[in-house]
Formats: sequence, C-alpha cells, structure tokens
Amino acid sequence: MKFLLLFILTLCILIACTKKVGKNPELAYSNFALLDSINEPDLKYYKNNSSSLLPGTNGPHGPYKLRFNNIGFNALTDNGKLPLGGTMPNGSLIVKDIYDGNNTIILYAFMYKRSGSWLWGEIKPNREVLYSVDRNPSTCINCHSQAGNRDLVTTFNFH
Ligand code: HEC
Repeated sequence: MKFLLLFILTLCILIACTKKVGKNPELAYSNFALLDSINEPDLKYYKNNSSSLLPGTNGPHGPYKLRFNNIGFNALTDNGKLPLGGTMPNGSLIVKDIYDGNNTIILYAFMYKRSGSWLWGEIKPNREVLYSVDRNPSTCINCHSQAGNRDLVTTFNFH
C-alpha cells in the first residue's frame, strides 16, 4: 500500500514537472493560459446566480455574468461580496462573460491577481486578444478606481 502511494506521488510529481507551465511559470499568466483557466468548468457564479444577466450599464461592456475561480470565490465572505477594504488573494480569477442579445458570450474581460496586483485582459472566445495582459492597464484601473473600496471590483458597488 505504502509503495503504491509512493508510486502515485512520484508519478504526479513527474507529470507536474513535465508540464509546460512547470518549466516556465510565465506561461501560466499569458493570455491563452488565462483563457484556459476561464474555460475551466468549475468556476463559480457571483452569488451562485448562473441564470440572470447583470445589466452592465455602468461599465463599457454591456450585459454580463460574473464568475470566480475557487480562490477568488472563497474570499467573498460578506454576503457574497468581498468585505469592504478587503483584498482578493493572489491567484484569484474574475471573469466577466459579456453576452450579445442571443445568450452567446462575445467577450471575456478578466482580472487575475498576481503578486499583489491585478492583471487585466480582454479576450474573445475565438482566442482573439482585444486587450493583452501585457498592456498598461491604466485605462481599466482608472475607471475601476471608484468609491466602494473592494479591491477595484466594481460589480460589488452596483449589484
Ligand atoms: C469606463 C469605465 C470602465 C473601464 C474603462 C473598464 N471597466 Fe471594467 N467594469 C466597469 C464597471 C462599472 C464594471 C461593473 C458594472 C458594469 O459593468 O456595469 C466593470 C466590470 C468589470 C469586470 C468584472 C469585475 C468587476 O470589477 O466588477 C471585469 C473583469 C472588468 N470590468 C475588466 C475590465 C478590463 C480588463 C478593462 C480594461 C481593458 C476594463 N474593465 C475597463 C467599468 C469600466
């Protein structure tokens, strides 16, 4: 039994080390690596509401749904929101699924917390990058720096 566990553990370590991401940690934060994370099936909807669209009338994108990875979702301890003055932990991913009028996602706008600050990006489901995570995010940040003080996540101010 012990040997079997040891074998499985070794196998896992070997597999983890041979993955591209293991070799080059920078890849984990590229547009496409983040798109992979966006497409993970276990992302959770804001306030567990997967059915209704938020109007998006306060931002530049239009109607949307909001999803979080587990790291991000677990930080939403104030009635489904991040507590006032709180910060989302490193590794948090927030995805704004932007919809057209036919219930189809036309764009993902996302924020990913890395080393204490957000990476900002926009990418279409067909992999077209509209706003690369490498770009200076000051346009995004300027508008997201609104009253509310919940780590630049503006949805918490409106919904
Ligand atoms: C003109 C203001 C404005 C600009 C510019 C802007 N946003 Fe936003 N964004 C908002 C507002 C307001 C919301 C939430 C409510 C809404 O959409 O009505 C939002 C929501 C989001 C969300 C969902 C999480 C949250 O904060 O609520 C993401 C992700 C996001 N924006 C990404 C971006 C990215 C990436 C950029 C830059 C490429 C950007 N935004 C530029 C105003 C802006």
